[in-house]
Amino acid sequence: MKTDVVIIGGGPSGLLLSQLLNRAGVATIVLERTGRARVLSRIRAGVLEQGTVRMLQEAGVGERMAREGHPHEGCIFSDDDLMVRIDFKELTGKTVMVYGQTEVTTDLYAAQDAIGATILHEVADVVICDADSDAPFVTFTHEGVQKRIDCAYVAGCDGFHGVSRKTIPQDRRREFERVYPFGWLGILSRTPPAHEELIYANSANGFALASMRNEMLSRYYVQVPLTDKVEEWSDDRFWERLTSCLPGDVVKTLVTGPSIEKSIAPLRSFVSEPLRWGRLFLVGDAAHIVPPTGAKGLNLAVSDVFYLHEALIAAVKQGDTRGIDGYAARALARIWKAMRFSWSMTTMLHHFEGEDGFAGQMRKATLLHLSQSETARRDLAENYIGLPY
Ligand code: FAD
Ligand code: DHB
Repeated sequence: MKTDVVIIGGGPSGLLLSQLLNRAGVATIVLERTGRARVLSRIRAGVLEQGTVRMLQEAGVGERMAREGHPHEGCIFSDDDLMVRIDFKELTGKTVMVYGQTEVTTDLYAAQDAIGATILHEVADVVICDADSDAPFVTFTHEGVQKRIDCAYVAGCDGFHGVSRKTIPQDRRREFERVYPFGWLGILSRTPPAHEELIYANSANGFALASMRNEMLSRYYVQVPLTDKVEEWSDDRFWERLTSCLPGDVVKTLVTGPSIEKSIAPLRSFVSEPLRWGRLFLVGDAAHIVPPTGAKGLNLAVSDVFYLHEALIAAVKQGDTRGIDGYAARALARIWKAMRFSWSMTTMLHHFEGEDGFAGQMRKATLLHLSQSETARRDLAENYIGLPY
């Protein structure tokens, strides 16, 4: 087989890149390790920055999001019973969109099907060959047959555990990492949301997040030690912990119910440089991970796609390689700022086991300052709604 760009990974970043390239007349083949149903069952991101919304619209997949997504003009940060509202609209003139990652990928798959894009599922043994030459190719097994695709470029959109990053020789890679000593236990329940806006809660019992998907679907998270197993968390235990973290006024009206999904995600900050190895480019979680506290992971994957799709179109259509030469620097400048924000949000809101009283006082003081300073709220809002690109 032969194509312009082989895209490894059919998650949100691979699908969006494929969609934008196809619409510009650049041919792609997407190779995805799992089945479509498996990709669509991953309950992950819920908050889209305005830049992400714009990119999805540009890709021709904004219609259902405009109808079914929920624009949010603000969110709440709480410290026990203190509730601080961050008014994005007033502070920045912008809003965010609550629309689940599962919906985004559903829309992208539908759009890719409609234009007849090639997405191969359940591929195994993907190997990226000669990435540092002018004639890269990718080999893999599909339906029991070994196959090869020759291409001009390879986009590594295969997430944290993919093969793309590891294709770059280890002695040429530099990795930066912070692993946090806790994870997030998340549940989805068919109950009305605790509040009309998201609540990021600091409390003596640790961090909790009250989020949502729609009027009858709630998403909640609580901080748990990394050693905890999902089986140890009955629904009752979950609701008990959640109610001990949220402000009293919110708990009064909280509706609980059975969970329809429950999982634990570890938290880490991670960046691997360089983002480019010859004709291979890393995108999204393949190159970087943020702790979910700032709602940045998917949004950062989309800004990488923004920079790379422009660059690849210019390279393939006009032979202009200035964009691909500049991709890593442009993307990394934004990545590091989102890393900083996600790390500071995580530090501001979580209880670190074994910490001293000073750490707790720092969190409380940060939240109190946020409640009293418009400057502090504006800084948070500007980062939360997404830095420009
Ligand atoms: P992935 O979604 O990981 O997709 C990679 C794809 O590559 C997968 O489909 C995988 O099967 C495939 N693959 C892997 N290896 C191979 C291989 N060898 N060959 C072929 N295919 C392969 N982000 C936000 O912006 N906002 C939020 O509110 C938010 N909340 C989150 C909450 C949780 C609990 C979690 C876990 C994450 C959250 N994120 C959030 C992060 C967001 O989900 C990720 O950043 C996003 O999924 C990254 O997309 P991606 O396409 O780069 O990678
Ligand atoms: C959701 C997840 C996040 O990490 C976040 O910061 C906000 C919302 C969610 O799943 O709804």
